[in-house]
Amino acid sequence: MTKPRLLILGGTGEARQLAVLLVDQYDTVTSLAGRTQDPMALAGTVRQGGFGGVSGFLAYLEQNRPAAVIDATHPYAARMGTTAVQATAQMHIPFLRLERPAWTQQPGDDWHLFETIEALVKRLPSLGTHGLITLGGANLGAFSRATGMRLTLRAIDPPDPLPDHPAIKVLLDRGPFTLESERALLTRLGIDVLVARNAGGSATRAKIDAARMHKLPVALLARPARPDSNYVNTVAAAVRWVEGLNL
Ligand SMILES: NC(=O)c1ccc[n+]([C@@H]2O[C@H](COP(=O)([O-])OP(=O)(O)OC[C@H]3O[C@@H](n4cnc5c(N)ncnc54)[C@H](OP(=O)(O)O)[C@@H]3O)[C@@H](O)[C@H]2O)c1
Repeated sequence: MTKPRLLILGGTGEARQLAVLLVDQYDTVTSLAGRTQDPMALAGTVRQGGFGGVSGFLAYLEQNRPAAVIDATHPYAARMGTTAVQATAQMHIPFLRLERPAWTQQPGDDWHLFETIEALVKRLPSLGTHGLITLGGANLGAFSRATGMRLTLRAIDPPDPLPDHPAIKVLLDRGPFTLESERALLTRLGIDVLVARNAGGSATRAKIDAARMHKLPVALLARPARPDSNYVNTVAAAVRWVEGLNL
């Protein structure tokens, strides 16, 4: 008997876990954008590269006929999610968004929330003199306007393009980062402001805890808006949703 096909839009730990849990019962295909030079091994089939917007994704769905689509992309990967909501609605394919909950402020946190990178960069020089930027390697051009301060960009792959800034350094690292290693980094580099996304989960949380312990401000980029859809925030709930489809 052929297994029903599931398309998982991936690039996250949750997508990896989901594929492991579903691969025995379903023909799981995990889709990656193809940005990370050396992605981790995944259970099931893997495809890589963008689909080509809504029309490209519609063509892919038409050709590959997944019985359901689960968008388990990163909380900040809203373009892919928006495409998937539109295309699956058009094709009447069951769709689920799996997104880990955002971090919430704890006593002692000094968070400054910004809706856009441009607004964040404008305020950044008033928050510190040496920023650790942990926003991934893309769309960092606005940091060329963070004048009068030093910047250290930490990313898995080299930022492309590198912001044009006179005092910028790149730190290539993929983690995992522990509280001890994050605290040691803040001290060693003399970081006095952290720039981060509200990624949620535990994998990248240590820097937020380290900033609180060092009494440093955190310039936090808000999660992007995305269209309404079926939504769960744990891998277990996503598995239950798939099982409930009775494919
Ligand atoms: N943003 C982050 O901080 C972050 C962190 C960790 C992992 N990731 C992963 O990295 C990928 C790219 O992130 P992003 O912020 O650039 O996303 P995005 O802004 O939502 O996507 C940009 C474009 O990349 C392609 N794409 C994104 N995710 C894809 C996927 N899973 N499979 C096939 N194509 C995909 C799509 O191209 P087309 O329009 O051509 O289809 C999409 O329009 C995501 O899969 C995400 O889960 C992102």
